[in-house]
Amino acid sequence: MNVLGINAYHGDASAALTVDGQLVAAVEEERFTRLKHDTSFPHRSIRYCLETAGLRPEEIDHFALSRNPRANLGRRVIHALKDRPGRQVATKRASNLRKILRAKATLAEGLGIVESTLHAKPHFVEHHIAHIGSSFYVSPFERAAVLSIDGFGDMVSAMWGLGEAHHLKIGGEVTFPHSLGVFYTAVTQYLGFPKYGDEYKVMGLASYGEPEHLDVFRRIVRNDGLGYELGLDYFRHHVEGATMTWDGGSPELPPLWGPAMERDLGPARGDGPLEPHHQNVAASLQRRLEEVILAMLRQLHERTGLDDLCLAGGVALNCVVNGKIFDETPFRRVYIQPAAYDGGTSVGAAYHVWHQVLGRPRGFVMDHAYWGPEFGDARMKQALEDAGVAYAELPEPELLSRTADALADGKVVGWYQGRMEFGPRALGNRSILTDPRRAEMKDILNARIKHREPFRPFAPVVLEEATGDYFTKDHPSPFMLMTYPVRPDKIDEIPAPTHVDGTGRLQTVRRDQNPRYYGLIHAFRERTGVPVLLNTSFNENEPICCTPEEAVETFRRTKMDVLVLGDRFVEKS
Ligand SMILES: [Fe+2]
Repeated sequence: MNVLGINAYHGDASAALTVDGQLVAAVEEERFTRLKHDTSFPHRSIRYCLETAGLRPEEIDHFALSRNPRANLGRRVIHALKDRPGRQVATKRASNLRKILRAKATLAEGLGIVESTLHAKPHFVEHHIAHIGSSFYVSPFERAAVLSIDGFGDMVSAMWGLGEAHHLKIGGEVTFPHSLGVFYTAVTQYLGFPKYGDEYKVMGLASYGEPEHLDVFRRIVRNDGLGYELGLDYFRHHVEGATMTWDGGSPELPPLWGPAMERDLGPARGDGPLEPHHQNVAASLQRRLEEVILAMLRQLHERTGLDDLCLAGGVALNCVVNGKIFDETPFRRVYIQPAAYDGGTSVGAAYHVWHQVLGRPRGFVMDHAYWGPEFGDARMKQALEDAGVAYAELPEPELLSRTADALADGKVVGWYQGRMEFGPRALGNRSILTDPRRAEMKDILNARIKHREPFRPFAPVVLEEATGDYFTKDHPSPFMLMTYPVRPDKIDEIPAPTHVDGTGRLQTVRRDQNPRYYGLIHAFRERTGVPVLLNTSFNENEPICCTPEEAVETFRRTKMDVLVLGDRFVEKS
């Protein structure tokens, strides 16, 4: 039974394929089109999924979109009548809905077949049901509390409940115009970061400031247990809409913040200098988000009585909040799959069909993120030869040994292996790695390759068994979705990936999750005594490198010292 899940016409378009309930492939469209957060119909992702499974389009039994235009129809109609969004927004929204409803025709078109030969039965899965499904159904938990939080999907911004075996019991939701995702995005825009997906920059900035404006932020979002409301004076989406637009790929959101934001917090930053005031606004925003989410979680724990939690939705990428769950709520175990954002809803939509429509029991756990494309040894070799790059082909022990030596010598290493990661983080197959002991590595990486804002931290990867030796908590974080304080006595040992507030957004890795990556960190530990590396994504500013050619090109274009491409070791002279 082959089920294709699709996230289309929404940020981070993606496809995922399950065969008899096992995930076979999952990938975001941006990895192929090279347009960040590509929002189109994910034709290339779908073709990749089918090729990976060795299936013809005619063999898809079901396909599921992670949107349901009929969900909350009453609320949509009331909104359209009451708030009268601008003509352009209304037209755009109507056109999106039409596109979603004719997805089968679009799918057939993209696959180059006649629609009548496509036997797949279409399903429309409400957005947050897909988010929750993308986490709970692939989690290791038989029963768990579930919570999804994002901007909006199908008019809803948060949904919670309880997952048990292959069933979800939805306990409640928060609907338009109230949204924690919109809250965070609006203030991100106000702080002068207008691009889709810039929220994580503000999360990094927040560590530099003090939450001096918490009183204002408690008016911007009011909360009560599991519910929350926005102070609508601070926003404009309830009048002008929050409909995403995209011309040829990358999504854009209209300005979401309203006049009360400048009244209470001063003029918006625009492209002016970043001042301590902006850091304090970011810190207040982050603190308020934490207060609201942690209160929701405490309430959810009380209602469900369960110690295991599954999180999803774009807001679940806020690893600073996630890292506080263990200290500030009774939850003891947390699962968040690597693509917690909209890209992951393709997985949730597919599993919704498998469990809810087809009634099949659970039987799959997503315990690694490597569901994307791989290109094989011959293609990697060819990429190097076409670029005229000299390489040494090494057996694994020597490959790991030479790479660990290079890292310990302070070299910047591009590390390209196997299948690409699903989700926004590079987790050891498309990574740039460096020595975490050298404080200057952050500036070196920024000057030579990444060119990021100086306030943004780089992240550590640690052998899972050593997590508690370096961090104050040891709950695994395999998908780099937890931020923990670095143990005070270890901050001087790993300064490069330690943030200004003494924390690290860590990835933990076990040998069975990625043997070669684990082996490399282990080899580094043998040389230095430190079971940690600095890990950042293999790219400059574009989407993470997907193909070997892109990796070789990035290596040549930037001041990277070493490239490890599969079994091949390349060092710049
Ligand atoms: Fe979402």
